[in-house]
Amino acid sequence: MYRTHTCGELRADHIKETVTLSGWVHRRRDHGELIFMDLRDRYGLTQVVFDPSVSKEAHDVATSARPEFVLKLEGEVRARPAGQENKDFASGAVEVIIMKAEVLNKAKTPPFEIDQNKEVNEEMRLKYRYLDLRRERLRNNIVFRHKFIKRLRDLMDERGFCEVETPMLMKGTPEGSREFIVPARLYPGQFYVLPQSPQQLKQLLMVAGMDRYFQIARCFRDEDSRGDRQPEFTQMDLEMSFVDEEDVMSLNEEVLTQLLQELVPEKQIVQTPFPRLTWHEAMSRFGTDKPDMRFGMEIRDVTALVKGCGFKVFADAAEKGFVKCLTVEGGAEFSRKEIDDLTEVAKVYGAKGLAYIVMEAEGPKSPIAKFFKEEELAALIAAAQAKTGDIVFFSASDSFEVACNSLGYVRLACGDRFNLRDPNKLALLWVVDFPLFEYSEEDKRLASAHHPFTAPKDADIEKLDTDPKNVLAKAYDVAMNGSEIGGGSIRIHSPVTQEKIFKVLGISDIEIGRRFGHLLEAFEYGAPPHGGIAWGLDRIVMLLRDEPNIREVIAFPKDSKAKDLMTGAPSPLPEESVREMHVKVIEE
Ligand code: AMO
Ligand code: AMP
Repeated sequence: MYRTHTCGELRADHIKETVTLSGWVHRRRDHGELIFMDLRDRYGLTQVVFDPSVSKEAHDVATSARPEFVLKLEGEVRARPAGQENKDFASGAVEVIIMKAEVLNKAKTPPFEIDQNKEVNEEMRLKYRYLDLRRERLRNNIVFRHKFIKRLRDLMDERGFCEVETPMLMKGTPEGSREFIVPARLYPGQFYVLPQSPQQLKQLLMVAGMDRYFQIARCFRDEDSRGDRQPEFTQMDLEMSFVDEEDVMSLNEEVLTQLLQELVPEKQIVQTPFPRLTWHEAMSRFGTDKPDMRFGMEIRDVTALVKGCGFKVFADAAEKGFVKCLTVEGGAEFSRKEIDDLTEVAKVYGAKGLAYIVMEAEGPKSPIAKFFKEEELAALIAAAQAKTGDIVFFSASDSFEVACNSLGYVRLACGDRFNLRDPNKLALLWVVDFPLFEYSEEDKRLASAHHPFTAPKDADIEKLDTDPKNVLAKAYDVAMNGSEIGGGSIRIHSPVTQEKIFKVLGISDIEIGRRFGHLLEAFEYGAPPHGGIAWGLDRIVMLLRDEPNIREVIAFPKDSKAKDLMTGAPSPLPEESVREMHVKVIEE
């Protein structure tokens, strides 16, 4: 028997018991005769003591043992001497005086200390992920993730949802990213595609009469990794029959609220029911479709006010586009460098510049003041509701999205600067009334804003032919603290409407048949009205654990360049394996 207890289990009630523990040498302290160690496993740390007068053999083992050796120890639990209890760990009231010791395995000196308080660069952490997972931070994140998913599964089951596994080897399903492909050995020149989401299959499950489906689903998207993105990630994916938007949103809100209250009781949900904003309102007021509602600092529109003003940039934008402003309370203290940095932020999101007015005690100061008459400037300041001590930023653009978005990111940066993004608050909201299509400047055509199975608003169906850019979708996103944590929609269940949408998207009949023939055919056999949503599980867990990056809540993530530093994937294959797949590698 390797152990009677784990390293996190012993308490004062165990005093005088003989116990066996197995684990890793976490820390070792030589006090002359006595050797102290903390023995570690997933459950915690226990202090063990080796005294040569109790067991010379055990003491010899301890003398030779090094950090991360795997030991099996037997001894008697005793109280720690008064004043030497360690409140930092659960077994800190006791220690075990060791009578028998055995080395189960030796260990090389690890490339970094298994100590949460030591900074280690991320490349090392990813290369030796199994060692990093021995540290508290990752271990606790992974255990939290498990508990979150376990409870989520139960809550879904209680509501009649059935978990169905859908295949990984399948045909492509469009979610707007590039796909990973798998060559089919048995079919030369043919490929499986890894799913970007189970979207089509869950809709087919509704046609199959499954009624309420969910899945903790792995999704694959060949897109650039970022802090909140991985090439493979996990969704809680669900679909329901005979529902409208309200049904899906209220069920999700209920499950999400209950989970958050149970799993992170220390965090406070700012508002229930979750507030709802239309996409247009979210963009206009917060400059994003996933606003961080933990603080105000709303964007204002001054387009009408600057029409015909002396500053050409604003006057021109007011003719064709938009001029927006953002008043930052206390921002008059920003240094020149801080303003330059914020200007760079705005430029990343497409702004041509970031004009500003500093509200100094002696009066407003601004590089653009000279272009305005005194009363015009006063009117701008009044519209911006700026007072002494503030700064007002302006973004002018022909594009609504650019004018809003650029200030939206400046707003977030200022929120960080003034510590307005309290990690103990959870501000959730629904964003609704998304446009059905986005116009791609690059391709000069319309693309689905969400995916092509999303239903248009009933009132807008007519506009599909005449004014597709202004068709709204029966779509909804849920955002938390400035992150999009889920998105879904009511689907099209009529083959006629579905074909019409494909036409608007400019997908040819041949292409429609090739890519979506199976779905359209299924819809001809009695598809129920249906809709659903998918949550980004990694993102939610990241936010709940106050982590800056989703890699911290995934056991074996890829790095920011989509590489697995531990195994070295992706990597070349022997020529023979490649040939067997009927694939030819083209040297670039
Ligand atoms: P969508 O593409 O919006 O919808 O994805 C749903 C949620 O998944 C998360 N997410 C990601 N998380 C980590 N890494 C990524 N690369 C990544 N991409 C997306 C986000 C997002 O809100 N089939 C539809 C859902 C539906 O319509 O029911 C879908 O996949 O949190
Ligand atoms: P300029 O006349 O180009 O030196 O610009 C004067 C100020 O206006 C600078 O602070 C610029 O950052 C700012 N600016 C330039 N273009 C824009 C724009 N499109 N929106 C907001 N501010 C701008």
